[in-house]
Amino acid sequence: MYTERVAPMTKNKRPMTILVTGGCGFIGSNFVRFMLEAYPQYSIVNLDKLTYAGNLENLEDIEGNPSYQFVKGDICDRSLVGSIVRERKVNAIVNVAAESHVDRSILGPDIFVETNVGGTNVLLDVARECMIERFVQISTDEVYGSLGSTGAFAETTPLHPNSPYAASKASADLLALAYHHTFGLPVVITRCSNNYGPHQFPEKLIPLMIARALENKEVPVYGDGQNVRDWLYVGDHCRAIDLVLHKGKAGNVYNIGGNNEWKNIDIVRLVLKKLDKPESLITFVKDRPGHDRRYAIDASKISRELGWQPSISFDDGIAQTLSWYLAHESWWRRIISGEYQHYYRNMYEER
Ligand code: NAD
Ligand code: TYD
Repeated sequence: MYTERVAPMTKNKRPMTILVTGGCGFIGSNFVRFMLEAYPQYSIVNLDKLTYAGNLENLEDIEGNPSYQFVKGDICDRSLVGSIVRERKVNAIVNVAAESHVDRSILGPDIFVETNVGGTNVLLDVARECMIERFVQISTDEVYGSLGSTGAFAETTPLHPNSPYAASKASADLLALAYHHTFGLPVVITRCSNNYGPHQFPEKLIPLMIARALENKEVPVYGDGQNVRDWLYVGDHCRAIDLVLHKGKAGNVYNIGGNNEWKNIDIVRLVLKKLDKPESLITFVKDRPGHDRRYAIDASKISRELGWQPSISFDDGIAQTLSWYLAHESWWRRIISGEYQHYYRNMYEER
């Protein structure tokens, strides 16, 4: 059982070892790079299964960094997670790994339950057994369900997940809170809105629209295009995770939002305009089943308690994102063609 002897993370200027799961995905790779730059004295271990969404090329530039280690493996593999945490003397876990795409969860929910619920439980249990100092669970605003035209999700909003993806994330949140309540595990949960930025897999709205538009292909908008999302630049999200990791209060949830609501159709029009592509590429397609109408985040708690605010304006964020996708055309083309998967098959098959 945990006691107060566990040192608050704020006192940590000492070298620490942080296990980041899912570090080869979109948010994970941005977060690993952010941490290596911000804390050169820390060691970062990245445990990633390299699913379709995990791409080693996302962290190619830091492969030789002595403070960074990659382990190919599954968060559901208890003995692997246990040996990593014990042998590498992990102080904190940031669980970014997940099946993350709502549409895929509608096609096949099983893997969402396996990874997002079962995998999180394995990590929590090992963390408890090894008396880990901090466990950060990266969650989503989708656990709160859907809003009407007004209001915003607060941390106290009841959970009402609507998609299998959101339900699996809500289940993981509840497990994490239960580990805090029952065992005293120092868990903190972050619930953020829709991220955008470099390295996002081109199945999510913004990178999909960019890739399709650059190929002069139709861009599919679900339903009437009036669904609203709040958009958060991934770099701002990484800063928030860092603050929650070091200063968040155990057992607490922190909402993270960009204060930046957009209707889908307006985002698509903006992307097309910036790429100098015609609106005639827009194609309205059959709506996603159970499509949540609107998300909006009240992020006043993290602002008040930890001093976090989003710092990148949407104008700048979208400009940086577009330039990244324009400059890394081979990255997304290799993904679309499936070619990138050969890269890590070649690299890791024999290991
Ligand atoms: P992503 O799909 O880009 O990356 C997920 C990563 O997890 C991949 O590298 C994948 O290989 C890895 N992974 C999947 N299953 C694994 C397993 N069983 N074991 C080890 N690794 C595994 O996802 P993302 O968009 O970077 O999202 C990261 C986290 O943030 C997720 O927990 C997601 O729920 C949450 N989130 C994302 C957004 C968003 O807008 N992208 C918004 C809110 C919350
Ligand atoms: P997405 O990026 O999948 O994130 P989430 O569903 O987790 O919010 O989708 C963002 C919004 O864009 C969502 O309302 C669904 C919509 N959408 C489209 O209209 N067309 C598309 O091709 C995709 C992928 C999403």
